[in-house]
Amino acid sequence: MASFAFHTYGCQMNVRESEAAARALQEAGLTLAADEAQADVVIVNSCSVRGKAEDKALGKLGLLCATKRERPGRVVGLMGCMAQRLGDEVFRRVPMLDFSIGTRCAERVVDAVEAALAGRKTLAMRDLHAEPTALSGHLEDGSFSAFVTILLGCNRRCTYCIVPDVRGDEWSRPASEVLAEVRALAERGVKEVTLLGQSIMNYGLRTPAWTVADPPSPGGYTLPFPRLLEAVAAIPGIERIRFTSGHPAGVTEELIRLYRSEPKVCHHLHLPVQSGSSEVLSRMRRGYTREQYLEAIAKLRAAVPEMAITTDVIVGFPGETEADFEQTRTLMEAAAFDNAFIFKYSPRPGTVSATWEDDVSEAEKARRNQVLLGDQDVRGARLNAQLVGSEQEVLAEGPSLRNKARWSGRTSANKIVVFEPPEGIRPGDLVRLRIVRAAPQTLYAF
Ligand code: 5AD
Ligand code: SF4
Repeated sequence: MASFAFHTYGCQMNVRESEAAARALQEAGLTLAADEAQADVVIVNSCSVRGKAEDKALGKLGLLCATKRERPGRVVGLMGCMAQRLGDEVFRRVPMLDFSIGTRCAERVVDAVEAALAGRKTLAMRDLHAEPTALSGHLEDGSFSAFVTILLGCNRRCTYCIVPDVRGDEWSRPASEVLAEVRALAERGVKEVTLLGQSIMNYGLRTPAWTVADPPSPGGYTLPFPRLLEAVAAIPGIERIRFTSGHPAGVTEELIRLYRSEPKVCHHLHLPVQSGSSEVLSRMRRGYTREQYLEAIAKLRAAVPEMAITTDVIVGFPGETEADFEQTRTLMEAAAFDNAFIFKYSPRPGTVSATWEDDVSEAEKARRNQVLLGDQDVRGARLNAQLVGSEQEVLAEGPSLRNKARWSGRTSANKIVVFEPPEGIRPGDLVRLRIVRAAPQTLYAF
């Protein structure tokens, strides 16, 4: 029986898809390898969001294919966003690759592996405008937390972003399907679900054309996003609900009300801002100004003062001046972000901004990146220090990586807390703890 391993790059949606594909392979009789070095089949799940992410995946594929010299029967496959972007070109770049599977057809992985074990190559691609099928199986690994994809693709078309090209049109999974998946997870002990979608607050907003021409069964319909959150919260056994990623346009009165009324919805929102300059935001086609963004988070914090807000920022977008960059710095301070991921702009083939001159030098992008990271460290430490003395509900995850005698867990605001485990505690238990110390990335309850 052949064994397999996944090597996953990119976002949580890719992590989720690797997990579902792994489950499908298990069901087809393959086994999950103890580690990648041993696996007969290695599948790279790839990301295209920045050039660097693609370079890493291509480098990894090269290394894996080189191992075929000693192990001729070994299978190396590719799936995900880069597979979608490159199409058959990937076989010119990586001639020894056995298969490549684009997005929205991950279920082809079983056939592709079987074909590869029999010596045949596969290229699987799907029309990204057609109705997709979402793989829904989860690995039964005893974990108490799981990802659930609810929205595929993206219709926003920000000028820098490759996602609409590689993940296709926005498509909301039927609510009945989402709820059935969460119920199945809750029955096997999952306490926390993270709902995933590139622009998740658009869930249920658009009715795809084919449901008009050919209406599905009543169970096939979606719900407005806040209603879906309520329905998930009503599932017995689910204690915490997270979702990502947000957009200011989705921060509606209804969603804010839900944050207040539904204790299972965690007090953390990942709300990518990308830039603090309205001019840059307009060229990015983000659909909001600096002021509108700040207003959205002011409303959130007015309703839920302990709300943690995290963000993504791109530095060095075409035409970003020193003054624009300063605007980003001041916005980040005004927004008091709990955490921020900073990315250096990377032109992606086929996007609108790739036709504009990439005019901020690599050195200047690196400098701006460092400045924002430095600011965020100081800010993160300050915000964490404010939590000393507070009592927090923590979802226990298990022994801490650094010191096995301690455990770690997360607060509703997604802050990591290290604590001394009470007698009999199990992963997935909720415990109330008093914070006594804070470091920039960690809170301590002892
Ligand atoms: N260059 C740099 N960063 C990008 N992101 C998306 N596209 C690009 C690009 N072309 C960042 C955004 C997004 C995150 C997932 O990746 O900040 O929120
Ligand atoms: Fe990367 Fe975006 Fe694809 Fe996720 S959806 S893997 S972040 S390109």
